[in-house]
Amino acid sequence: MTTIAAPKIVCVVGARPNFMKIAPLMAALAGAPRPLYTCLVHTGQHYDVAMNQRFFEQLGIPTPDIDLEVGSATHAVQTSEIMRRFEPVLDVEQPAAVLVVGDVNSTVACALVAAKKGVAVIHVEAGLRSFDRTMPEEINRVLTDQLSDLLFTTERHALDNLIREGIDPARVHFVGNVMIDTLLASLKLAAPAEQTLAAAAEPAVFLREGYGVLTLHRPANVDQPAVLERLLQVLGELSTVLPLVFPLHPRTKARIDQAGLNSLLDTPRILCLPPLGYLEMLGLMARARLVLTDSGGIQEETTALGVPCLTLRDNTERPITVAQGTNTLVGSDPERIRRTALEVLATGGKAGRAPELWDGHAATRIATVIAGWAYR
Ligand code: UD1
Repeated sequence: MTTIAAPKIVCVVGARPNFMKIAPLMAALAGAPRPLYTCLVHTGQHYDVAMNQRFFEQLGIPTPDIDLEVGSATHAVQTSEIMRRFEPVLDVEQPAAVLVVGDVNSTVACALVAAKKGVAVIHVEAGLRSFDRTMPEEINRVLTDQLSDLLFTTERHALDNLIREGIDPARVHFVGNVMIDTLLASLKLAAPAEQTLAAAAEPAVFLREGYGVLTLHRPANVDQPAVLERLLQVLGELSTVLPLVFPLHPRTKARIDQAGLNSLLDTPRILCLPPLGYLEMLGLMARARLVLTDSGGIQEETTALGVPCLTLRDNTERPITVAQGTNTLVGSDPERIRRTALEVLATGGKAGRAPELWDGHAATRIATVIAGWAYR
């Protein structure tokens, strides 16, 4: 009698926002209704301890089986280097499928290698569209979905986007949001906000008045000194009525230094921090009066937490966070940011509700579909 090996799924991560998505998927695939082997590949797109290793530890993600160590570079160089290093992995591993998450360069690079080698592609977080092709992530989303055999969506509306792009709806499964699986599972473990705020010159001010959390890293907001300066100016003004905590993405820190804008942050009412761990960020956001961000994931996390979020962008690929959640788009116009922030502080902001299937069980649904597909 010959035994048949369980189908192998190569799972890919590369950058910070991938880590909270892969954590519940690795666990769910390990407990799938039919046995599946997994192999975790880290492209090394993010590599600093604060952007990388700390998330593996806090989220209990298995140590990657393979690290491609690509590091930072231009889009073309980074994407092509990931592709070049990922191809031999598929030759050795011979997987049934490659699973990619989100919309970073690692996502599209590995999907393209797999598709060209005739290996099935599974995309988790498919169908989100900002309709803004100036965002590198939008290009990554559209291309990855075109290459995918199984597409898992976080909101029903994503299916319309995929059908419009000619994707067979039979490949698409609405399962909920794996990032929210991680959030709900981690709430009890979140680091108390007091602990993180202890780094402030006057922590008592942040605790007494409440505080806002600020994150910025999109090229559109941080790469042009004039845009960045305008944003930091209005955020500095806002800090006079609401103290702000500002964990700095390495890209943003570099741009502020290069543009000589550090003096705009030189007030005890703005607490600048290095990138935070997942549990520190979660604890901080859960107690915030307001979050200001240009991140994709944070729009979803604040909706799940019921905390008002102002998104410093003109569009979002996550419209459900505006329609049903606590998110408001404010762009980068200082007057609009100021007015909306003050309004939220006066009224408490939108109440919002948890979107359908953002219930902590998305990864289990995905593993069930993948197991059914792998043994079809
Ligand atoms: C990437 C993703 C973006 C995601 C973001 C979260 C793409 C196209 N972009 O953007 O969608 O929202 O991650 O962080 O994939 N750097 C470090 N240490 C690191 C990683 C980066 O110092 O560990 C610095 C480098 O100077 C690098 C810069 O940050 O050049 C940008 O990194 P990169 O991975 O190119 O893009 P992100 O802006 O992080």
